[in-house]
Amino acid sequence: MRNHRIAVIPGDGIGKEVIEAGKQVIDLLAKKSGEFTFDFEDFDWSSDRYLEKGSYIPKGGLQHLAGFDAIYFGAVGSQQVPDHVSLWDLRLAICQGYDQYANVRPARVLPGVKSRLHGSEKIDWIIIRENSEGEYSGNGGRVHQGLPEEVGTEVSVFTRKGVERIHRFAFEMAMSRQRKKLTLVTKSNAQRHGMVLWDEVFFEVAKDYPEVEIDRELVDAVTTRMVLKPETMDVIVATNLHADIISDLAAALSGSLGIAPTANLNPERKFPSMFEPIHGSAFDISGKGIANPIGSFWTAVMMLEHLGEEKAAKQLMAAIERQTDSGIQTADLGGKATTRDITESICKDIEGQ
Ligand code: NAI
Ligand code: MG
Repeated sequence: MRNHRIAVIPGDGIGKEVIEAGKQVIDLLAKKSGEFTFDFEDFDWSSDRYLEKGSYIPKGGLQHLAGFDAIYFGAVGSQQVPDHVSLWDLRLAICQGYDQYANVRPARVLPGVKSRLHGSEKIDWIIIRENSEGEYSGNGGRVHQGLPEEVGTEVSVFTRKGVERIHRFAFEMAMSRQRKKLTLVTKSNAQRHGMVLWDEVFFEVAKDYPEVEIDRELVDAVTTRMVLKPETMDVIVATNLHADIISDLAAALSGSLGIAPTANLNPERKFPSMFEPIHGSAFDISGKGIANPIGSFWTAVMMLEHLGEEKAAKQLMAAIERQTDSGIQTADLGGKATTRDITESICKDIEGQ
C-alpha cells in the first residue's frame, strides 16, 4: 500500500469550500483503488489565523511542511488584510521558500462547457509561468512615504539561472506533448534588459531541442492571438507577471476561472510541490456553497500525477469530463448546481467506476 502525506491548506473564502470537496473526492479515489492511501494533515494557515495570532505561518511551520509529499492549497485573501500581506506571507512564502519555480497551468475547454469564445474548442494550452523571480522578486521600496516627493519602485529581477531553468522546463513540457510547439512571451521591445535576457536564453536553450517548433510573441499581442487564433499555440512560457495575467484570460476563454488548475512545482523534488486552483478566495460568492469545485478537482489530478498515481489521475479526469458533459453546472457556467451537487456527482461516478 502506497501512502502519500498531504499537507492541506484551505486558506480563505471559497478555498475552504473547494478544498474540502477535493479532499472528499481523492480520499474516495484512494479507497476505491485499494492500492494507496492519503494521510491528510490540515493546516489553519489563513487570514483568520493572521488576524487572531499575527502570522499566517507559525514559527517553524515551513520546516514542518517540508516533510510532506505534496501541498493541497485553496486560496488566500481577505477583505480584512491587505492583499500584498496575505499573498507574501502565505502563498509566496511557500512558493519561493520551496523553490517551486515552475508553475504549470493547463487550459482546455472541458466537454459540455460553453465558452464565450467562438472556436474555443481549439484551446489546448499549457502555460508555464516562472514562479520564483521576475516581477514578483519583492525587490523595490518606498521612500518619502506620504510626501509629495514619494517614490515607489518595483524592480523585476531576472537571473540567467532562473531564466534558463524555466525555459528548459518549458521545452521538456513541449517535448512531452503531441504538437511539440512552444511560444515565448516577453515584452522585449519596451523592456530592454531582463526581457532581452529572457529572449536570448530561450534561443540558446532551443538549440538543445531541435524537435520543438518555436515562435515568439510580445505579451500584448499574445492576448489577441489567444482570442483570435487559439489553435496556433500549444505550450507557452512567460514571466511571473505576464503568465499570471494570460492564464486568467486562458481560464475565462476556457469557460470559467473556477475550472482552471495549477501546480507549483519544484521539479528537482528537493521540496514538496504545491497544487491549487488558480482562482482566489472570491469574496462575492464565499460562504454561499456555490463555488465551482472543478478547478480544485483538476488540480488534484495534477497532484495525483505528481505522486505517481497515474491511474487514479486518469480516473478522476474522466469523472470530471463526464460531469461537465452532463450539463449540470455551477452558476459561473450558467447553471444552478451547488458545490455539493457537483462533488456528489463526481463521487457517484467514482463509486460506479
Ligand atoms: P478571484 O479569483 O477570487 O475571483 C474573481 C472572480 O471569479 C469572482 O467573481 C469570483 O466569484 C469568480 N470565481 C473565482 N473562482 C470561482 C469558482 N471556483 N467558482 C465560481 N466563481 C469563481 O479573484 P479576485 O477577486 O481578484 O481576488 C479575491 C481575493 O483572492 C484577493 O484577496 C486576492 O488577492 C486573492 N487571490 C488569491 C489567489 C491565491 O491564493 N492563489 C489567486 C487570486 C486571487
Ligand atoms: Mg493570478
